[in-house]
Amino acid sequence: MKKSLRRGRTAGGGGRPLGGSMTVPGDKSISHRALILGALAEGTSRIRGLNAGADVEATGRIVASVGATRAEKNGEVEVHGFGREGLKEPAEVLDCGNSGTTLRTMLGVVAAGDGSFTFTGDDSLRRRPMLRVVAPLRQMGARIDGRDHGNLAPLVVRAGSLSGIDFESPVASAQVKTALLLAGLRADGRTSVTEPGASRDHTERMLAAAGVPIECAGHTVTVDGGHLPAPIDLTVPGDVSAAAFFVAGALLVEGSDLTITDVGLNPTRVGLLEVFRSMGGLVETVEETVTGGEPIGSIRAGAGALEGVRVAGEIVPRLIDEIPVLAVVATQAEGITEIADAGELRVKESDRIEALATGLTALGAKVEALPDGLVIEGPTPLRGGAVDSRGDHRIAMAFAIAGLLTEERVTVQGWSCVDTSFPGFLDALGSAMGR
Ligand code: S3P
Repeated sequence: MKKSLRRGRTAGGGGRPLGGSMTVPGDKSISHRALILGALAEGTSRIRGLNAGADVEATGRIVASVGATRAEKNGEVEVHGFGREGLKEPAEVLDCGNSGTTLRTMLGVVAAGDGSFTFTGDDSLRRRPMLRVVAPLRQMGARIDGRDHGNLAPLVVRAGSLSGIDFESPVASAQVKTALLLAGLRADGRTSVTEPGASRDHTERMLAAAGVPIECAGHTVTVDGGHLPAPIDLTVPGDVSAAAFFVAGALLVEGSDLTITDVGLNPTRVGLLEVFRSMGGLVETVEETVTGGEPIGSIRAGAGALEGVRVAGEIVPRLIDEIPVLAVVATQAEGITEIADAGELRVKESDRIEALATGLTALGAKVEALPDGLVIEGPTPLRGGAVDSRGDHRIAMAFAIAGLLTEERVTVQGWSCVDTSFPGFLDALGSAMGR
């Protein structure tokens, strides 16, 4: 790796080594689930370290609109659940903003009960496919309608009584699995969801920690109707998907030695760390404790020579959200990095394959878009320029990390979308670089 690639400027200011010890915001996936399980419970849940981004705030607003109460005291959020009988028909349209997790999982939460619930979201969310959740919920007896035969929001749910199903999901999607399991808790009989591969399992871990009997065998998860989660008391771990940007920065900028503490190390989320190691990156993890069923610990990362790898198959759902920053790192690895079996990237907050291929090419990288992935040839010196976030927080943050490698500035258009998951990202990056 050439030294000249290690210097440069980003939208936040130059690529100095990343060092010291830092924490990252609370895990977004776990934060959504903590609010939702708290809303389903009978009694008061206490949650610390909730992610402060707009996505989780959307879930918080919506659970409050449908009958839970939410209060914040000294950094701790208290949720008083609507329990078995308290699901309430909201007077307003439920706006999920940019958050696919909010929309897909809440469809499952409100499908069983009484009342009418109308969901919408921003331009990006109204383009994303919902039939993957709507179709199995309809099989359970839910009445859901919307644009494109119920595939696109706005969506209207008329809640009623549901029956359990055995569902084989064509995609490994934790959002689909979570929606069906939560609907299953309020349905008659058993509900099981089988996936083609392992998706993140936070829902299973949190339900088990909240006393709900849940069976996990291979890629099948089963719950029985009629169980409510007990109120939870949880400190949300740091988000490994947020940590990924800093780990990538440390791998790329010579002289870095960065430790990220109190971060979730759930095996269904750490695929990127495994890939970074197989590329030759210096990444160490230490598991320190287990809270709410989730392993938590620290990650230490430093710069080193990197080689291209092939990323495909079962690991893809375990690093799907980290592919934007993986693509940036791959531009500096010797040889070819091929990412395949990742067609889901096309239906995330943006078409991430297209966004990465266009943006990284504009910065001088050699990138080819595939229908289900990317081929990246490295190492290539990157140059500054303007790139479009497409309103997608992970694309924006990945391009900021690319800016650590360039002499000139990288300007990320539509930067404010970062607030979706990581308000204060640039300050955190500046601190890690000792600014
Ligand atoms: C999430 C699941 C994943 C992930 C998303 C968060 C969750 O989506 O990409 O950012 O919290 O359940 P899919 O369920 O579409 O795979």
